[in-house]
Amino acid sequence: MRYGFFDTDADEYVIDRPDVPVSWTNYLGTKNMCTVLSHHGGGYSYYKSSQYGRISRFRQNGVPLDRPGHYVYLRDDADGDYWSASWQPVGKPFVEPGEEPDAAAGPGAKGRWTTRHGMGYTRFRSEYRGIDTEQTVFIPLDDDVEVWDVRVTNTSDRVRELTVASYVEFSFHTITIDNQNLQMSLYASGSSYADGIIEYDFYYEPWTFHYVASSETPSSYDSLRDNFIGPYRTETNPVAVERGAGSNQSATTQNHCGSLQHKVVLQPGETKRLVYLLGYGSRDEAGRAMQAKYSDVASAEPPALPAVDLEFQRLRDYWHAKQDKLRIRTPHEGMNTMINSWTLLQAETCVVWSRFASFVEVGGRNGLGYRDTAQDVMSVIHSNPTKTRQRILELLRAQTEQGYGLHLFDPKAFDPDAEQLPDVPSPTIVPTPNVADLIHGLEDTCSDDHLWLVPSVVEYVKETGDLAFLDLEVPFAQGTPATVYEHLRRALEFSAEQVGPNGVALGLRADWNDCLNLGGGETSLVTFLHAWAIRAFLEICEHRRAAGDASASEDVERWTAELDRIRGVADAELWDGRWWIRGYTRDGVKIGSAANDEGKIFLEHQAWPVIAGITSQERGEASMDSVRELLGSEYGSHLNWPAFTKVDDTVGFVTRVYPGIKENAAIFSHPNAWPIIAEALLGRGDEAVQFYDSILPFNQNDNIEVRGAEPYAYVQFLYGRDHEWFGKAQNPWLTGTAGWMYTAVTKYVLGVRLALDGLVVDPSIPADWDGFDVRREWRGAVYEIEVRNPEHVSHGVASVTVDGVAHEPGTPIPAAPAGSTVNVVVTLG
Ligand code: NOJ
Repeated sequence: MRYGFFDTDADEYVIDRPDVPVSWTNYLGTKNMCTVLSHHGGGYSYYKSSQYGRISRFRQNGVPLDRPGHYVYLRDDADGDYWSASWQPVGKPFVEPGEEPDAAAGPGAKGRWTTRHGMGYTRFRSEYRGIDTEQTVFIPLDDDVEVWDVRVTNTSDRVRELTVASYVEFSFHTITIDNQNLQMSLYASGSSYADGIIEYDFYYEPWTFHYVASSETPSSYDSLRDNFIGPYRTETNPVAVERGAGSNQSATTQNHCGSLQHKVVLQPGETKRLVYLLGYGSRDEAGRAMQAKYSDVASAEPPALPAVDLEFQRLRDYWHAKQDKLRIRTPHEGMNTMINSWTLLQAETCVVWSRFASFVEVGGRNGLGYRDTAQDVMSVIHSNPTKTRQRILELLRAQTEQGYGLHLFDPKAFDPDAEQLPDVPSPTIVPTPNVADLIHGLEDTCSDDHLWLVPSVVEYVKETGDLAFLDLEVPFAQGTPATVYEHLRRALEFSAEQVGPNGVALGLRADWNDCLNLGGGETSLVTFLHAWAIRAFLEICEHRRAAGDASASEDVERWTAELDRIRGVADAELWDGRWWIRGYTRDGVKIGSAANDEGKIFLEHQAWPVIAGITSQERGEASMDSVRELLGSEYGSHLNWPAFTKVDDTVGFVTRVYPGIKENAAIFSHPNAWPIIAEALLGRGDEAVQFYDSILPFNQNDNIEVRGAEPYAYVQFLYGRDHEWFGKAQNPWLTGTAGWMYTAVTKYVLGVRLALDGLVVDPSIPADWDGFDVRREWRGAVYEIEVRNPEHVSHGVASVTVDGVAHEPGTPIPAAPAGSTVNVVVTLG
């Protein structure tokens, strides 16, 4: 069953059946303000931090679904019938996709509701009883305000008198206080109305305000939630909408909202445009300026565009520019659609907004997860070098002198330039931690966190060419400065020291798998990741040595030797016959081995010996075949098999998780990307794309009765075959899957990847492809890459031409001057 379709040309997903059983969300905002918004208009906004900067309130995991939200109500003043632009919260009857609503029918008629999620915006459309309404919601690039561009058209043949009302429920800015300390949230905040602007204030903290404004003077307003909704009612039937007038009351107490009501009279065929604004800042310092800026919709005539159109276009251009950095055109429609728009958007969202605010993640944690951020940044360096650099610096500052990273940290705590707000002696005592208390010891350290950072920094340097970045001095968490190069070296040294009796990396609190808690045991995954990080570091060292840096010579020797040691350990200790073991418990028992009864094979480490280049073709292929055979399914590869059913705390929390859920034998999406990379490196393009296809959300568009979640976003996990909900997808958007899928496809399947001194094209594609094209911007030049596959092979470059001149296959194509266009033709065979 389907609820919508991909409109690839518009980069939109269109939901044409509104009763989707779960929330399908989108993320708006690129800078300071973020909104998580569902296809029903439900959701919330925050300013900078989802923990401390809440603007609008959302009742997570609530009943009914997705409440409250950023709503526009419409009321027919002739008969009092009312509905929502976004179907919910009023929820009128609707026609089936393809059917036409009856414009002439009376109250209770069926209408049509369509939602378009786009890149950085969402557009709701309702067609109900001859009134066609569009509500386009977006956050402009440079204003801390959410714009609702509302257009109401009378498609009937009679004059219509309508009331249009906005509604948003304000939140106390700190989510814990909003949820747990009503003495503060109810009595320490107030609202007021003046000059068409509702201001929500925090009396004791006179630097925090939110506001709602509109492009025209309203006929009435509500800033007290309970006045708008009315007793024993919900957002479905608010008394103020039913009445067609707000109560015009504010107060310095209770729950607050932003509802502005407008009377609109429309002749047949006439369109009225209204703009509502939900913003951060005070009425005087922000609200009035934004109101003035976005109020020119009535007067501005083409060719002059109103500010709202200009800002919307700027936002579209912003995303197009990102997409243009790397565009693919392959015979695979789902791959093109997802990579060119949705997967890029999801990867950017994880980097810009981190992983703590969705409809499942309630946004109550602040800051960054070390391992997640260090991985996420790697995929968006080309599209967002500025944010990537910021994140990398934050990670470096949260790395300890010992080399490990702080597993979960607030970058502001380590940022000397962080904004300092006045310290109000509030009656709610929350002890302020000092920085030393934030630095955890080995007992809370994960054995992998710091390792992900090393290849990310190396990729950053390859993308930007900014070799000087490696010499930048950045303090460790303890405050001592060191060059970025030294930070990377310490990360590798930490893992070189943390080695167990079998020569394998020590299991600490956890590794990539949060639920495998081997403390005192050993983890093959981290050994493999260590090798991968060393190889990345060696690229830098070798480059420096070639430039005459003597100390880099020592590093080349040191880390080549360590790589050889790891290769030996992997060969001797970690091969189980058909796949790699996962490690050892602290009692020395092998896990992830054919000899085990439960958890015989794990997914997350199988690809890494290939990616790190420390194993043979034969073992690489055997391990991938085992993954396919034992873990694969029509919805992706399971994380382990068989599921754990017996508690064993030497293995970890995974043995206390229901079989088929999350880390215990679910289809955990994130490591599903790694076999794609391994297969591509093994030259098996058909197998690589088979792995990609098995979990591709695009392929599940018509299977929503099983999948549930939105088909344009990856989710954290799908229930595994041991669970009766096999194939259902949970926890969308905030997963490292998007970034890794982007990397797997672009750098390994299509094979367009970077060396320090050039660009390499080394594809591994399905043999039946005739070829594909990639447009890649790199260091200011454009590479138009055409790959031809006349012999229908999966892998192997027969010839390359660069601007018509033969180029040696396998050697990097040197960076061209900024501003130039380079035509590259690669022929496989
Ligand atoms: C989600 C966490 O954010 C991530 O760090 C971890 O790798 C996965 N769970 C797997 O446990």
